[in-house]
Amino acid sequence: MHFLFTLLSIFLLQTQHSTLALDLEKGRDARIVYYGSTVTDPAVFRHAGIWGQTAYPAYGLSGTAETALAITQADGNKTLSLTVTDWTVGTWDNGELLTVTLKDSVYPVTVRLYYKSFREEDMIETWTRIDNEGKKPILLTRFDSGHLPIRGGDTWVSSLYGTWANEGRVNTEPLTRGTKVIKNLDGTRNSHTSHGEVMISLDGRPREDAGRVIGAALCWGGNYELRLQKNDSDYDHFFAGICPENAEYHLAKGEGFVTPHLALTFSDEGLGGASRNFHRWGRKYRLAHGDRERKILLNSWEGVYFDINEPGMKQMMEDIASMGGELFVMDDGWFGDKYPRLTDNSSLGDWVVDRNKLPDGIGWLVKTAAEAGVKFGIWIEPEMTNTVSELYEQHPDWVLKAAGRPVLTGRGGTQLVLDLSNPAVQDFVFDVVDRLMTENPGIDYIKWDANMNISEHGSQYLKEQSHLQVAYWAGFAAVCDRIRAKYPDLTIQACASGGGRANWGVLPWFDEFWVSDNTDALQRIYMQWGTSYFFPAIAMASHISATPNHTVFRTTSLKYRVDVASSGRLGMEIQPKNMTEAEKDFCRRAIASYKRIRPVVQFGDLYRLVSPYDDKGFASLMYASEDKDTAVFYWWKIANFYDEHFPRVRMAGLDPDRSYKVTELNRIDLRPLAFEGKTFSGRYLMENGLDIPYNNEPAHDAKTDWSSRVLLLEAQ
Ligand code: DGJ
Repeated sequence: MHFLFTLLSIFLLQTQHSTLALDLEKGRDARIVYYGSTVTDPAVFRHAGIWGQTAYPAYGLSGTAETALAITQADGNKTLSLTVTDWTVGTWDNGELLTVTLKDSVYPVTVRLYYKSFREEDMIETWTRIDNEGKKPILLTRFDSGHLPIRGGDTWVSSLYGTWANEGRVNTEPLTRGTKVIKNLDGTRNSHTSHGEVMISLDGRPREDAGRVIGAALCWGGNYELRLQKNDSDYDHFFAGICPENAEYHLAKGEGFVTPHLALTFSDEGLGGASRNFHRWGRKYRLAHGDRERKILLNSWEGVYFDINEPGMKQMMEDIASMGGELFVMDDGWFGDKYPRLTDNSSLGDWVVDRNKLPDGIGWLVKTAAEAGVKFGIWIEPEMTNTVSELYEQHPDWVLKAAGRPVLTGRGGTQLVLDLSNPAVQDFVFDVVDRLMTENPGIDYIKWDANMNISEHGSQYLKEQSHLQVAYWAGFAAVCDRIRAKYPDLTIQACASGGGRANWGVLPWFDEFWVSDNTDALQRIYMQWGTSYFFPAIAMASHISATPNHTVFRTTSLKYRVDVASSGRLGMEIQPKNMTEAEKDFCRRAIASYKRIRPVVQFGDLYRLVSPYDDKGFASLMYASEDKDTAVFYWWKIANFYDEHFPRVRMAGLDPDRSYKVTELNRIDLRPLAFEGKTFSGRYLMENGLDIPYNNEPAHDAKTDWSSRVLLLEAQ
């Protein structure tokens, strides 16, 4: 519902629990007046003396203010003065779309601001279209997706940072005077280093269950720049968009430029409320097959690395099937004819099966998987090549390369990035998938990897070199659109040297992302915690792996690894033939348990209860189904001090007036917990919680210094 209060010219874009108010008067700048909890009377802002801030400030006539748009006209003029000429409101089945048209008073430039509400999920997507309606080209030097003025106060910012094998770490800090810039210049993997999402807490240090929070996520796979500014005025400012550094965009006569969407949410239920909004919206509108349960899989990478062969693949398929898994994924190392892929220094681009390793081809693998009772998936890295490859020999002009210089190589000393701005390369990348799928329609899953950044600025195809960052991702989108049009049911994982592609820009084409190459359970608690700020568990691939862990060399108990992995999209990343029968048996039970809780984990609401970042010695979270029928509670010790006693954890997300029966899953203790099989009211569990012993108590020779619990709560 909206009001267009003509006298006041204030437009209210409503969601279930939030309002975005814009002041739209023809001949004036468009203003954002308010973003917060529901307001239904637009007059209130005038009575309160709130006049708003320019919605989309443009450079040149705005003094010292930070701006969202900067254009250099054909004659060199750098000023813009955007005023409202029109606005329209459309409806769709879950909200409204407000389109505000602004024009410059002198130059033929039209800017359209879009605000689309997602009523049920309390989300708003905003984006911008810039049209050059003149006869000469213009140059965009900044083109943000959106700007949000935020009434200043005790504002805090939570963002994610990290690097390879340490992705998704939470950084929480007050917004202090000056401008905080969060950006990424990788080119292909934009969630290593930092993330293009932030939580802005308005009531001091962020809390999980209380306080006003604005969450923002730039839906974009490439370089981004988020700016948070606190100056000497009443308002803080948040800007987000494609990073304009060395990416100026020439807009030809008659051409339009559409920015990526910026997803915003408001919640007065703290970080947890904002995360749940992102998760619901994401599952419904931004994640491929967000309503479809994910299969439990075994991925071959940490089990065999490049040592792919038929007996080995068959054994892994049979092993995962025997443990109750549903899918086997053959990772890197299966391809290359003239240059077989024996390690990471060759063959990308030569997507033909290595007949020495797999004499009977992919068809045989698909068939053998089916015989074993699982589906088959395969790894590719289609955006890349190596200097040692037939592809590069045939098409040296297809790689990104600065003119007049030797190529800069990445992984293995030979890797190169293909130039996706080139339509011939787009056809090639599409064909990689299309050929695999046409020849082997039984392929169920593709792991799409990307292990190199754009390390040199150079397209051998583009005329305007500064278009590279935008054109690469336009090419990527074109390829993915074609793949999805032809293969709508295929499951595709976004992997990029681990968690380099956790962003809402790529997820409309991808079902999930690989959170990190680091599968150590302890470190995963921290990484998955941070990642869950913006992304739902269904999208977070989380695998049980061997110990000592291959990245950090830590040894944790199998139960601990299982209990962490089963809080996301459960899989395995291990050589089953090296597991004991007892370990396989435990995993068989754990997979069966996961199947019970899978709908709650993958579609439920997340409640983060005790943060690992608070150093309390343990961490805890839970998921509850939307109807509050079922919930699952996780508890993991994160620091191993003997005889350290922990407080009870108050649960959340339950119905206070219903009774829940408690069942421990993945139990290793000799004796059941006191509350096993007992029922408690939701109110009791949320006000008190249950006593979780600080140690697991299995047989003496099975004891370790790790402990964890998973409790299933079922409404009676
Ligand atoms: C990087 C990925 O993150 C790994 O899971 C694995 O697929 C390797 N690439 C294969 O080269």
